[in-house]
Parts: sequence; C-alpha cells; structure tokens
Amino acid sequence: MNHARLTTLLEDGPDLLPASGTVLVLGPRADSDLSALPAGRVRAVQGFRPDHDALAARGFAVTPAPEGRGHAAALVILPRSRAEGRAMVAEAAARVAPGAPVWIDGQKTDGIDTMLRDVRARAELSGALARAHGRIFGFAGGDAARFADWQAQPLTPVAGFRTMPGVFSAEAVDRGSQLLAAALPSDLRGRAADLGAGWGWLAAEVLARPGVTSLDLVEADHAALACARANVTDPRAAFHWADATGFRPGHDLDVVVMNPPFHQGRAADPSLGAAFIGAAARMLAPQGVLWMVANRHLPYEPALAAAFREVVELPGNGAFKLFRASHPRRGAAAAASAVPPQRGVARCRR
Ligand SMILES: C[S@@+](CC[C@H](N)C(=O)[O-])C[C@H]1O[C@@H](n2cnc3c(N)ncnc32)[C@H](O)[C@@H]1O
Repeated sequence: MNHARLTTLLEDGPDLLPASGTVLVLGPRADSDLSALPAGRVRAVQGFRPDHDALAARGFAVTPAPEGRGHAAALVILPRSRAEGRAMVAEAAARVAPGAPVWIDGQKTDGIDTMLRDVRARAELSGALARAHGRIFGFAGGDAARFADWQAQPLTPVAGFRTMPGVFSAEAVDRGSQLLAAALPSDLRGRAADLGAGWGWLAAEVLARPGVTSLDLVEADHAALACARANVTDPRAAFHWADATGFRPGHDLDVVVMNPPFHQGRAADPSLGAAFIGAAARMLAPQGVLWMVANRHLPYEPALAAAFREVVELPGNGAFKLFRASHPRRGAAAAASAVPPQRGVARCRR
C-alpha cells in the first residue's frame, strides 16, 4: 500500500471516512502504513503468520480471516492473484454497512487497473486517485449480491484435494514437490515434519509411508493450512499455523521434508530457504534426515553445509535439485546458518 494514496484520498475528502465504526482492512502487510486510519478502529485481516504477528505487535486488532459485519468502511490491499483480489472485494462489499465505502488500493503490477475496470462495470466509483505506479478508488458497499460471483471458489488441483485461490500452486501439484515425493524412500520412518506444507499434497505423500509415526504440517498461510486440514485426514497429522523458521516441535524429529519458499516480493531470495534449512537442523535428532527440493538456480549449498555434516545431492532435473542432508550440526555452525524469522517478507506465490 502507498502511504500517499490513502492519506491524500482522506485528506482531500475528509468526509469519506465515517466518523465512527470499525474499518475492515483486508491484506495489510507487516509494514503497511495504516496511519491514515484511526488505529483503534482498524480490524486488520491477515492470514500470513509473520505479517499477522507483526501487525498484532504494532497494536492492531488482527484476525486471520474476516470477522463481523456492518463495518463503517473497508480497505482492500490488492494481492497479486486476481481471483484472490476479487474474493477480497466481494468479502469487503458484503461486510460493510449499506452504502459504506469500500476502497481498493493496489499497484499496477498487481492488476489495479484491471480491477478498476471490473469494479466500474458493477458499481459507481468514488474517490479515485492515481499515484506512484498504483491507484486507490472506492465504491459504496453493503450490497453482497453485487459481487457474489467473485467470492472465493474452491479449486481441485488433483483428485482428492481442494485448494483456494491465492494459496501456493492452487491449480496443480507443484513439480518440485512431485520430484521430492518420488525420491522419498518407502521405508521413511519416525517423527516427521513438512515445513511450508501448503495445501498438503507432499504431506499426504509422506503419510503414505507406513513407518512414519507422526507428521507436523507447519504452514504460515492460514488459508493453505485450512485446505491441508481438509485434505489430510490421517490421524498421524498435526497442523500448525506458524512461521517455520521459529517453529519448535515438542520433540526431536527423525525426518524433515520441505519445498521451501524463495520469494521476497517479486525477487528470488535464498535467505528464506536458508532460514528453513537452519530451522530443520535445529528440529532434527542427531540421526535425523532432511529431504529438500529447491529451484536449481538457488544457492542453498552453503546453508546446507553450515547446518549439516553430510549433504548429498540426489538426481534432480533441469528445473529442480534435490538434497538429502544428515547429521545436523549443533551450536555455532548451525546458528550461523540461521536467518532471523522472516517478518512480512516470506511470501510464496509462484
Ligand atoms: C514452495 S511452497 C510448498 C508448498 C507445499 N509443500 C507444496 O509442495 O505444495 C512453500 C510454502 O511455504 C509457505 N511459507 C512461506 N513462508 C513461510 C514461513 N515463514 N513459515 C511457514 N511456511 C511458510 C508458503 O505459504 C507455501 O505454502
């Protein structure tokens, strides 16, 4: 979100914001500038755990999914996924009081111009402002029927699994995860975790190994984890809405599998995967093993070598490389590989 856009909009139109009542804010990031809004009236909605916790630490009332109706206004911060953005607009339109303003703020690169055209076809716009490679515009909400067909619809990426728009690889099983699953031995056993478990396909593959006695699915995206809960009904599974880089299982693990996130905004950022590697090493028992898939261009070897005494690269393909890492290092070396928990940047939308 752009500070100047929201601030300027409300400065130019001081009557735009109703004098009382709550303001639903959908999609704020850890560092979003919400200073144009009265903090005590903000009801932030953020399902990505690091962002959620950072907003809570800033003093905002924040929930992972929208709550309440009859809000005095709503602000949608447009995400990159068009379907997810439409669902947020439908949610905002349905949850404000009749006639209350709904503002949509976004960058051109996230599709704000298309969103403006799409909303204009259904509602009269108000308070539009273009600035800093983006726009903010508003319309009068409170009419749920007008955007009912924009509500999020479940997807079926593969038989037996459902996902929602906006979660990682919502429309198909990720090819990296497929490669990793095919490399996992059939006699995998013991206590396991899947870090960044998404909607649960890789986790289900792990649980297909009968020697696995428990599996912690650790996922920061609340919506993805909700899909995983629905998809993975095996009683050995436990679900954790958590930042994997700070997650502590209640016991040492025998196995960690992961297809870690690697994006910070739009740029590839290997420090995310490095933080996951350090976290895996800290969770594993001395004889525990990490199984990992990574995009071929990302340099994870130094982080693996810092966190594990034995690292074997397994046969991969042109796009992905596979690693089996064992004998986690304790102490200084492992600590050196650890990057502080990602706050507000650990997005995985490829
Ligand atoms: C490359 S995807 C893999 C998802 C899933 N394992 C699969 O194969 O489909 C990485 C996942 O990590 C999640 N993620 C990103 N940052 C995270 C964090 N700090 N802690 C836990 N999960 C995170 C993303 O939401 C995404 O679901």
